[in-house]
Amino acid sequence: MTSTDPNWWRDAVVYQIYPRSFADANNDGTGDVEGMISRLDYLQDLGVTAVWVSPWYPSPMADGGYDVADYCDIDSRFGTLAEADAFVAEAHARGIRVLIDLVPNHSSDAHPAFRAALASAPGSPERAMFHFRDGRGPDGDEPPNNWGSLFGGPAWERVIGPDGPEQWYLHMFAPEQPDWDWANPAVVALFDDVIRFWFDRGVDGLRVDVADGLAKQPGYHDTPIDPATGLGIATFYPGHPWWNQPELDTIQRHWRAIADGYADRHLGERIFVCEANTKPLSALMRFVDPGRMHTTFNFDMLWCEWEAGSLRAMIDRNLIAHAAVGAPTTWVLGNHDSTRVVTRYGKPETGKPFTLDGVTPEWQHRFAEYFFVQPTDNALGRRRARAAALLEFALPGTAYIYQGEELGLPEVEDLPDAVLDDPAFFRTGGRVRGRDGCRVPLPWSGTEQPYGFGADAAPWLPQPPEWAGLSAAAQDGEPDSTLSLYRRALAIRATHPALGDGTLAWGDTYPGTVLYFTREPGFGFLANLSGDAVTLPSGAEVLVASGPLAGDVVPPDTAVWLSLPA
Ligand code: GLC
Repeated sequence: MTSTDPNWWRDAVVYQIYPRSFADANNDGTGDVEGMISRLDYLQDLGVTAVWVSPWYPSPMADGGYDVADYCDIDSRFGTLAEADAFVAEAHARGIRVLIDLVPNHSSDAHPAFRAALASAPGSPERAMFHFRDGRGPDGDEPPNNWGSLFGGPAWERVIGPDGPEQWYLHMFAPEQPDWDWANPAVVALFDDVIRFWFDRGVDGLRVDVADGLAKQPGYHDTPIDPATGLGIATFYPGHPWWNQPELDTIQRHWRAIADGYADRHLGERIFVCEANTKPLSALMRFVDPGRMHTTFNFDMLWCEWEAGSLRAMIDRNLIAHAAVGAPTTWVLGNHDSTRVVTRYGKPETGKPFTLDGVTPEWQHRFAEYFFVQPTDNALGRRRARAAALLEFALPGTAYIYQGEELGLPEVEDLPDAVLDDPAFFRTGGRVRGRDGCRVPLPWSGTEQPYGFGADAAPWLPQPPEWAGLSAAAQDGEPDSTLSLYRRALAIRATHPALGDGTLAWGDTYPGTVLYFTREPGFGFLANLSGDAVTLPSGAEVLVASGPLAGDVVPPDTAVWLSLPA
């Protein structure tokens, strides 16, 4: 059973399930809740203490379920509400907490509130749930402002009514994802009900999608033009009219009060995890001020290059900033939106989250901060990713595992265009390849597709032939497999008194290309990011190593956990 520890979330090991791609019990090529239930024993053996389930709600799947048509039900492709309840109960029975995705920035265009808005007149209360505006120009045929969508193209879509074109509505993402107007108290009330609906069903926490985007600046003024698209800049910059607005403070304190109202239900605290790319870190930390949200998802680590100085600086600035507000830091290597860590760390540039292929120079320039195009060395990447897993599990705070990281899965970079499903691919005319390569269904067993994902149905995205050797069954019991490494490290983490929440102290006996820190009592972490072999501290006993050691010599791109002499 889950404990009643109110601090469970301060050192949780959270496993992200992307339901479409996790396990397919009904053999239709798409994962489902029954499949999730069937793999809970696996997650318990792995040693995770919580799961985060990406959207499982009814959805037309214009954005992989992040277009929600009903926040209080389960998509029939995934199962039923009764099965979701069973999943929560079965997870709890194994000591695993359940976080689910809350998608409050936008709905699906199939949501009844949006259908009602379309069917109602301009200026009506139904339209006031969303951002409907008259267009500019003599016939209103120019969008209300120049804002660009994060998935490419304009952030406004024109409504075509029975009498022809009329108002426009705002969508920061795909046109099928209209943005709610959070200045409207009716929107606040609608989501209060959603939050309570899931907390009442025993869900332990909510991961808040696009948590930094809910409030829009009144006035809808133009943003500076992005030369690559000719549209307003959609990505964050200080002063941006939709990212990180001051109104978020009120919304988050209101939600926190709802969660705190569940403190007496004997399940431990209910929590919120913010998905927010807000910069600088000092601005992001306002999200976890006392009385606001519990934690934020750590994009700083996700986008940090595999380089000792950068990693150490990233770790320090996060620990210091979080300690100042009393929040635990989260540590993250991947999610369903970014290139898998094995592939990322196998590139010459290791600090970029997305793959961009065959794009025009303007687009490469536009996204230079985010994308890489170089070829990958997956063997090198996997060695580093294994070392990075030991790093993340040794750090003070909460660790996240994106499904398949424990199998060392690479990004599938060569999915044919014909199978791609990400709206970012379509809305950029294929210039952005999108995020499907990290969403390929998991290989569980067997030697050919679907590798035990379902019985024999072709999975919704094709799996590569090389995945036979990476399946959970193939790695089970193999001492050197990535799965065994994850299990061993998480088992140690669960009982070692130095691990989990707390502090660390950097050691200064090694050069700057080696990460070495200690945690009390008696724990040492060393990762060799130099090109040379490094010798272990004397008297240290190895608890677990991310790769083979030569006696007391740690090769490059290898990490070890140590028991240090008293
Ligand atoms: C978040 C999700 C991403 C989704 C977007 C719009 O960034 O993680 O998958 O496309 O929000 O909902």
